Amino acid sequence: MGFLATTGAFALVYVAARLAAFFYRLLSPVRLDIKKIGEWALVTGSTDGIGRAYAIELAKRGLNIILISRTKEKLEQVAKEIQNTNSTVQVKTVAVDFTKDSSIYTTIREQIRGLDIGILINNVGMSYEYPEFFDKVENGAKLVNDMIRCNVDSVAYLTQMILPDMLKNRRGLIVNVSSVSGLRPVPLLALYSGSKGFVDLFSRSLAAECATRGVLVQSLCPGFVVSKLSGIRKSSLFSPTPEQFVKSALNRVALPFTTGYWAHELQDFGQSLLPEFLSNKATMLFLGGVRAKALKKRSKTQ
Ligand SMILES: NC(=O)c1ccc[n+]([C@@H]2O[C@H](COP(=O)([O-])OP(=O)(O)OC[C@H]3O[C@@H](n4cnc5c(N)ncnc54)[C@H](OP(=O)(O)O)[C@@H]3O)[C@@H](O)[C@H]2O)c1
Repeated sequence: MGFLATTGAFALVYVAARLAAFFYRLLSPVRLDIKKIGEWALVTGSTDGIGRAYAIELAKRGLNIILISRTKEKLEQVAKEIQNTNSTVQVKTVAVDFTKDSSIYTTIREQIRGLDIGILINNVGMSYEYPEFFDKVENGAKLVNDMIRCNVDSVAYLTQMILPDMLKNRRGLIVNVSSVSGLRPVPLLALYSGSKGFVDLFSRSLAAECATRGVLVQSLCPGFVVSKLSGIRKSSLFSPTPEQFVKSALNRVALPFTTGYWAHELQDFGQSLLPEFLSNKATMLFLGGVRAKALKKRSKTQ
């Protein structure tokens, strides 16, 4: 076979394999009886966006909820909202700031002692104020500290705290919220991309470790979802509301890796076919535009 024919054959096999994985993730109907996994679900970053939607949806399905976020008033508000619509569900709130030192995990451990936690949603996360070159980020050392603690440490520490009991009971579900930004380089959001890359690989490694031990672990890698963090205010085909997104993601909880939403699967599939240098160029162009707009807006308000 000539060089061109061999290269063509390899390319075809590669695209066919990617397509097979894509359709499997898109179509595999994995419905679990979530209530049987345990009595309590713990959700971090649960006063807004995706985390809040998880807490509300899991409560609707009969689980007691532990809400963990930074702001006490917002926690109480979400707790009230849950209890007003699900009077039999118990709600506990823990106010901690995940950018603080590891003593917050002692606080959390004390608050959840003795609870049968079947589901852990490691959702809390932060990003840049606007896309920026890593060397030009204002207060760069603080961003490094805060983002690693919030996006990386929270996932590892809480998993380390809760997984052993799940394994002992041979039941449990851990959803670690990464991002499509963790699946390939994202110039101008380098630290965010790296932190989400950690979450993805950590989760998929753990999923394989736990596969035969009764505990499901999922790396959840969404594209854009309407939220404060994304800055997207109106839903569209590729940017669902948190409620739409979570309903869809909960139908895919048994997959060790998923974007959680059909349109994000399409987006990820398309991006995975692009050579990295092209993907980097396109991202630089797009996020460079977002950066320029943000800098212009800033200079006007200063
Ligand atoms: N939205 C997207 O397009 C998108 C796409 C891919 C991945 N993700 C990931 O999805 C997760 C949720 O994002 P989101 O868009 O739903 O965010 P969001 O709407 O901004 O909500 C963030 C939540 O996290 C809490 N939080 C933020 N910083 C915290 C801290 N230092 N300590 C404790 N709690 C803190 C907030 O609590 P307070 O109310 O107290 O601030 C809030 O409840 C993140 O991990 C994000 O990286 C989001």
